[in-house]
Amino acid sequence: MNRVFKATVVENKKLINNHYLLTLHPAVKIKKPRPGNFFMVAVETGLDPLLKRPFSIHRWIDGNFQLLYRVTGKGTKILSEKKPGNILDILGPLGKGFPFPGKDRQVILVAGGIGIAPMYAMAESIKDKNPLLFYGTKTKKDVLLVDDFRSMGVDLRISTDDGSYGVKGNIVNVLKKYIARDSLKAPYVMYACGPAIMLMKLSGLASEYKMKGYIAMEQNMACGIGTCLGCVVKTRKGHKRVCKEGPVFPIEEIIW
Ligand SMILES: Cc1cc2nc3c(=O)[nH]c(=O)nc-3n(C[C@H](O)[C@H](O)[C@H](O)COP(=O)(O)OP(=O)(O)OC[C@H]3O[C@@H](n4cnc5c(N)ncnc54)[C@H](O)[C@@H]3O)c2cc1C
Ligand code: FES
Repeated sequence: MNRVFKATVVENKKLINNHYLLTLHPAVKIKKPRPGNFFMVAVETGLDPLLKRPFSIHRWIDGNFQLLYRVTGKGTKILSEKKPGNILDILGPLGKGFPFPGKDRQVILVAGGIGIAPMYAMAESIKDKNPLLFYGTKTKKDVLLVDDFRSMGVDLRISTDDGSYGVKGNIVNVLKKYIARDSLKAPYVMYACGPAIMLMKLSGLASEYKMKGYIAMEQNMACGIGTCLGCVVKTRKGHKRVCKEGPVFPIEEIIW
């Protein structure tokens, strides 16, 4: 059963650039989200903007939860102006989250840009498996949460397009080099979130190295609950709704 609830803004902190960390306190007890689940957030109580915006669960702290978001347009700009004490209408948690890895698998997390948001929740849920995180951004100014991941015991590999932090280039190439070197040793399972082009390249890599993997897809969403069919993607098992059958899909399932 989907749940509509109100949540109070506890904090809406600017981290870097145009990236914010929003801490919310739900007015009612809500179901604990799984990594990869998301919430639909009404940024205004009026009609403009009418549609709620989807955000992944970033972190769950004793019943409060955090969303990590980047300001990209009107809705997220309004969200960035929310102050402690403001109340938001929210729907969720929604969608299918990341399945947990099998026992013997080495976990590889891949994040591109704001795709880092759900990866924190995922890393936290499997930190005993010493996950490896491959994290790519455009430039040093966009790199987030490095200390948080390190203090969780996550081994990080970072790349930036301009080489201002970590390796210069895209993160899929960094991962490819790592896998090519190591492919005979460990059975990997990969979890990824980021821009479509990154996910597409990762699906090629997964098929080349016969890797198991799951990707969190992004589509514009209107309803978030499977009724408007606005978020459909083509998969090898027919058309699927990102909000309902996803946002997490087995990597080999998506047709690009
Ligand atoms: C499952 C999921 C999880 C996500 N998680 C995160 C996350 O954790 N952090 C993060 O930063 N981002 C996340 N995103 C992306 C985030 O939802 C978008 O960046 C956000 O919705 C942008 O909203 P905006 O209003 O600022 O941008 P805009 O570009 O203004 O609007 C975004 C979309 O809303 C619709 N829209 C806007 N105005 C209208 C209108 N007048 N009429 C009809 N449609 C309209 C359009 O489809 C438009 O493309 C996620 C997306 C999905 C699908
Ligand atoms: S957003 Fe309406 S069906 Fe997915």
